[in-house]
Amino acid sequence: MARVSPTFVRTSAPEFWEDVYARGGDGWELGAPAPSLVEFVESTPPPRGRVAVPGCGRGHDARYLATRGYAVTGFDWAPAALSAARRLARGEGVDVAFESRDMFTLGRDLPNAFDGVWDYTCFCAIDPARRAEYVRSLVGTLRLGGWLLANFFPLRALTPGPPFVVSPAEVRRLLAPSFWIERAGPPLRSPRGRQSREWMVLARRTGA
Ligand SMILES: C[S@@+](CC[C@H](N)C(=O)[O-])C[C@H]1O[C@@H](n2cnc3c(N)ncnc32)[C@H](O)[C@@H]1O
Repeated sequence: MARVSPTFVRTSAPEFWEDVYARGGDGWELGAPAPSLVEFVESTPPPRGRVAVPGCGRGHDARYLATRGYAVTGFDWAPAALSAARRLARGEGVDVAFESRDMFTLGRDLPNAFDGVWDYTCFCAIDPARRAEYVRSLVGTLRLGGWLLANFFPLRALTPGPPFVVSPAEVRRLLAPSFWIERAGPPLRSPRGRQSREWMVLARRTGA
């Protein structure tokens, strides 16, 4: 039987993430929307509509998209992240929904509910053994013809994980059954320290 590392097991529980927030271990926090997202939306905005932001953390990307005219729901399962996300949205007067949910239930419970999905640093937070299942959940919640915009990070391993290392070849393989990849390549903007470690994709849902 394959050995499963304890880290992989723990990351599949909300308590793991709540504890990371509680001890200030959220080294991914940018305090602002992802530069790759802002650049992409300012230059080539995907069609407006209902957008899901999985693993939204404190919701900077979700708020940003809402201010650009998208009807956004940010999902996370760490109470600390969600309460900060709601507080920040209230404080800025941004109309955006935040929901506590395990990403693996999205496709089953909210089928065809979204026109678009933006993923940044949720994919790399998922146990790599569950990535295919995660992608299936995103496929399920995205309507046919809907778009997936995702910035994958890190292309080289930083720690044993999370974030768990990602490769373009693996992403292409996982997306192939249900998506047509329209654009792929390094984002034009990355946060300091993440340059050359990110790979961005715009894909359309073409199948089940
Ligand atoms: C690395 S953080 C990134 C947060 C945010 N995207 C950002 O860039 O600031 C990953 C987030 O995904 C959430 N997460 C991980 N697995 C999840 C799951 N199965 N369901 C819901 N949220 C999940 C964690 O609680 C955490 O807030």
